[in-house]
Amino acid sequence: MEQTERIGKGLQELETWVLPAIEGAGDPEALEQIRVRVLGRKGQLTEILRGLSAFPPEMRREVGQQANALKAHIEAKLQERQQGLRVALHEGLAVRDAIDITLPGRPVRRGSLHPLTATLYEIVEIFQHLGFSVAEGPEVELDYYNFEALNIPKDHPARDMQDTFYVTDEVLLRTHTSPVQIRVMEAQTPPVRIVAPGRVYRRDADPTHSPMFHQVEGLLVDYGVSFADLKGTLQAFVDQFFGAGTRLRYRPSFFPFTEPSAEVDIACVMCKGTGCRVCKGSGFLEILGSGMVDPEVFRMVGYDPEITGFAFGMGVERIAMLRYGIDDIRLFFENDLRFLQQFPSL
Ligand code: FA5
Ligand code: MG
Repeated sequence: MEQTERIGKGLQELETWVLPAIEGAGDPEALEQIRVRVLGRKGQLTEILRGLSAFPPEMRREVGQQANALKAHIEAKLQERQQGLRVALHEGLAVRDAIDITLPGRPVRRGSLHPLTATLYEIVEIFQHLGFSVAEGPEVELDYYNFEALNIPKDHPARDMQDTFYVTDEVLLRTHTSPVQIRVMEAQTPPVRIVAPGRVYRRDADPTHSPMFHQVEGLLVDYGVSFADLKGTLQAFVDQFFGAGTRLRYRPSFFPFTEPSAEVDIACVMCKGTGCRVCKGSGFLEILGSGMVDPEVFRMVGYDPEITGFAFGMGVERIAMLRYGIDDIRLFFENDLRFLQQFPSL
């Protein structure tokens, strides 16, 4: 009896410290240490249970039941605490990684139009308001449309001004948007009133010349069109684009596909006409070539020889440079964000 009492007391003692210890374990390692101390191979309860084998059967049953009940209780408590610690751990992580909805949001970065694209859109829109519609042609063009049909035969010196990138002898990157004039006139009868925006290519490179640049071609064909109509149309355009009263300067020029021809300059906005790097000291910057459509061109597309018309081809980069005070054409094509982000509202 004495022995069973001693064991019973041992079990009670064990229960008194082990249950609060489990409850108080702060992390899985502390819990494991308790488990080893009690239920491990040399654990207190394990030793007690092992010692029972030396007892006579009737004693063993009574104390054994008590010991096994305590073992089950402790195991249940250990598992419960382990579960509790795991939940706490997850909650801790959840709190740490949670989205803080009180933080100010990250702004969505808005893109903007490239200044050339914006300029091109604006030019085209002004002409649309003047009654012109939009036509387009290929950038890889036939020699025929780029030169021949514009009255520039193979050996013509005007070709020297527009050297380009040839794909074959007959196929090239267009040097201007003028071939679109021919394609449009081949496809439709007069009256014609179109603008043709797009990319063009030349063997050129300096602060005002790029090997790839943009033009907007204009073509108006009808009976009784005069040079005054050309001047009035261009003045209406610059008044809209640069502001009322913008001065234009017409210089007599030569294009094989117009007669008479004029190059049109605008007072340089960089230096206000006093002369600078952009206008090469002249105070003016050439923005377009123009003239009355040569009857030879009408003949090539099979139009009535009595018909009349004007045409122009403007350089979009030059116009954008004047508009935004940009002094080097290459800035448009370097894709430097410090440059491009200066046009956020476009
Ligand atoms: C022409 O290209 C003619 N097709 C224009 C024309 C059309 C005349 C219809 C008559 C009738 P020009 O080579 O001058 O002309 O070029 C026209 C404009 O393109 C120039 O005024 C200039 O603003 C621009 N330009 C020419 N070369 C370059 C270049 N390398 N880089 C940027 N802009 C250029
Ligand atoms: Mg020119």
